[in-house]
Amino acid sequence: MSDTNTQGRTRLDQRPEWHALAEHREELGATHLRELFDTDPDRARRYTVQVGDLHLDYSKHLVTDETLRLLRDLAAATGVAELREAMFRGEKINVTEDRAVLHTALRAPLSTEITVDGVNVVPGVHHVLTRMGSFAHSVRTGKWVGSTGRRIKNVVNIGIGGSDLGPAMAYEVLRPYTDRELTFRFVSNVDGSDLHEALHGLDPAETLFIVASKTFTTIETITNATSAREWLLDGLGGDENAVRFHFVAVSTNAAEVSKFGIDTDNMFEFWDWVGGRYSYPSAIGLSLMIALGEEQFREMLAGFHLVDEHFRTAPPEANAPLLMGLLGVWYGQFFDAQAHAVLPYSHYLSRFTAYLQQLDMESNGKYVDREGRPVDWQTGPVVWGTPGTNGQHAYYQLLHQGTKFIPADFIGFANPVGELEPAFAAQHDLLMANFFAQTQALAFGKTSEEVRAEGVPEEQVPHRTFRGNHPTTTILAKELTPSVLGQLVALYEHKVFVQGAVWNIDSFDQWGVELGKVLAKRVEPALTEGAEVAGLDASSKALVATYRSLRGR
Ligand code: F6P
Repeated sequence: MSDTNTQGRTRLDQRPEWHALAEHREELGATHLRELFDTDPDRARRYTVQVGDLHLDYSKHLVTDETLRLLRDLAAATGVAELREAMFRGEKINVTEDRAVLHTALRAPLSTEITVDGVNVVPGVHHVLTRMGSFAHSVRTGKWVGSTGRRIKNVVNIGIGGSDLGPAMAYEVLRPYTDRELTFRFVSNVDGSDLHEALHGLDPAETLFIVASKTFTTIETITNATSAREWLLDGLGGDENAVRFHFVAVSTNAAEVSKFGIDTDNMFEFWDWVGGRYSYPSAIGLSLMIALGEEQFREMLAGFHLVDEHFRTAPPEANAPLLMGLLGVWYGQFFDAQAHAVLPYSHYLSRFTAYLQQLDMESNGKYVDREGRPVDWQTGPVVWGTPGTNGQHAYYQLLHQGTKFIPADFIGFANPVGELEPAFAAQHDLLMANFFAQTQALAFGKTSEEVRAEGVPEEQVPHRTFRGNHPTTTILAKELTPSVLGQLVALYEHKVFVQGAVWNIDSFDQWGVELGKVLAKRVEPALTEGAEVAGLDASSKALVATYRSLRGR
């Protein structure tokens, strides 16, 4: 990699649009959201966009019309729209792996034409969807039976990262829409306890394993799958023939699937132009499709597609992923925000932020640009958060009165999902009252004058004052449906895309996970056999020795 600008691209920090934003930030100084709302009563209406079913209010952000204009100028100057078009066209924008980035093709209608290396990939996508649909149908209806002729009652997905987080998250989110007669479990951790707990109480004769791995070489997944096969064979009397009734695979790598012993007739394919963290609308979502049925899975895909089209066609002023991405750029660089909280007010979204952690942090946790030069600007934030109102009684104290600057997204729904008991359903207004109260408190706080006016003793006034000025986005929808989940995920996917484009980083590789993998392979013999590991540092050597003695070796 060269230190020079190999593609003749101006570095971000040398762009006039970047300097204009820095100057504008100086001018904005300590402007408070209270002031912004006082001087612009129409702000809430003007700073709201509707994307499909998602009502997105970004008025509680530390921005003015001028800020938004400058941010859009930055997006234009850094070629966000051009890169977006290149992505949708199937160009190889994942430069370090020389791959197309086409998760959008996974949810494109059959009539769309998207070519990679001269081949239209859309018919292949639909072919696999149809195969998944009929397989899901046969499991759901009991047509697909285990080796002893018993009906499948349990589906265990074995995968990790993008081959686990997507289906596991979406299964939790859409649980009210799933077939409750079937049990679904998700195993990812190489810690054998994960597998142990996942298989607890399951009868091998009624259990189907889906081994989900893009590469089919990921050590955690292959190890878990091998142990699961052993568990199955132990439970079914050791007949190797049983494997084909109880194991199917999702992968891009037929050779490895077959080497593992899974019949490639029972393999559901996807392609190297689908990144792991963007893969759950592909065959990686097979477990989810079995849970939901084909129709509802396709509704989810339609939700994704709706936001894909919005991202492609909405003007910059009303383009939700663009706005969300640019706001993150603004805070990361000019407010030194290190973190971004995503706070869903739906218990079904309890794993949503964990899913976003991979999507965002594996995509944009990069310190060199697309040409390999170190960046001199902030890239992706630490993404975190759990469902409200639990977080309110845990870490919101820090959001309100801590010293960190943490922009947040609040996601809520006007209605609870499905048929709740009347008393349970009635709790929804209380949940949502908290939702609205929190963004209000974060934005506007409570001044010391207001605290004093309540008769609070003077020595307590500083403790009970809220400075406010914490920016939030509110995303509100009528109800959490399969389509709405697709819309939400696509919204965040494209937000991450926008930021990567502005920062000029490759959001689609993940070299940063490699070193740890290589070292783990090297260290393992030291743990098991006490082997000498070349180049092991003094601290790690001592720790390995302690580990071995604690293990009684
Ligand atoms: O964490 C690295 C990674 O390559 C992810 O990007 C991917 O989702 C995960 O490992 C699992 O990979 P695979 O699907 O090939 O098993």
